[in-house]
Amino acid sequence: MKEDAKNHFDTIADGYHEEISGHVRDHLINKWWGIVSSHFMSNTRVLDIGCGEGTNVNFMSRKNLNVQGVDFSDGLVQQAHARYPQLVSQISQGDALHLQFEDASFDVATLIGVLHHIYSREDQILAIQEALRVVRKGGVVIIRESNLINPVFRLFWNYIFPLTAKIDRFGGEHWISASYLRKHFPQQIEDTVYFTFIPNFMPLSLMGIAENIERKLEAGPLHKLSAHYTMILRKA
Ligand SMILES: C[S@@+](CC[C@H](N)C(=O)[O-])C[C@H]1O[C@@H](n2cnc3c(N)ncnc32)[C@H](O)[C@@H]1O
Repeated sequence: MKEDAKNHFDTIADGYHEEISGHVRDHLINKWWGIVSSHFMSNTRVLDIGCGEGTNVNFMSRKNLNVQGVDFSDGLVQQAHARYPQLVSQISQGDALHLQFEDASFDVATLIGVLHHIYSREDQILAIQEALRVVRKGGVVIIRESNLINPVFRLFWNYIFPLTAKIDRFGGEHWISASYLRKHFPQQIEDTVYFTFIPNFMPLSLMGIAENIERKLEAGPLHKLSAHYTMILRKA
């Protein structure tokens, strides 16, 4: 199963960057950063697990963080190196289930859109435990995942997103909900934030209107019906 996911990402690595349009990618990362930025200070040591072609490593490096990224897809690591030559020494091949780093070597570890590509519950939990292992006492693991509470986004993530981008596969990935994580990590979970209602196919010309609607939805009682959630786990 793990090999299937690795092969999938190796196969799509060359065109990965074009799978999401730039304005949607920027919107998502900026929005996420607005939620989590208080957990980072200048020189915070960050490990971005499942870093793909390095977009988030580059984004966080530009915030003056001390970032490293690992991904098990050789193809995506090569893409990351080609795209960000200045980050070659910071991005390497590595498996989320057996990280090559010592205990407590980072202040923060991030798993951004990674868990649903790990194909068993045991391994998803193991990946989070590995992330907790490599952060110091008092450090945090930040997870970002697709949210399927809303039936419209459930349809979107299972069928429409795979039709419009090759990142997820048609028929469903191994989705993991915020409530499932709360049951497994009750001591560590400090916060869950539901965010974004903008799908990847939103044209640039409609982003202004969509962002206005999104802000209202995020601030109101329907916020849990969002497209994503992010969760903060603190290591005791
Ligand atoms: C949807 S992509 C997200 C990439 C990146 N985090 C981002 O937000 O652009 C999922 C990534 O998880 C990586 N991945 C999945 N399972 C992994 C594992 N066991 N170890 C390391 N990387 C893994 C894939 O290779 C892929 O790059």
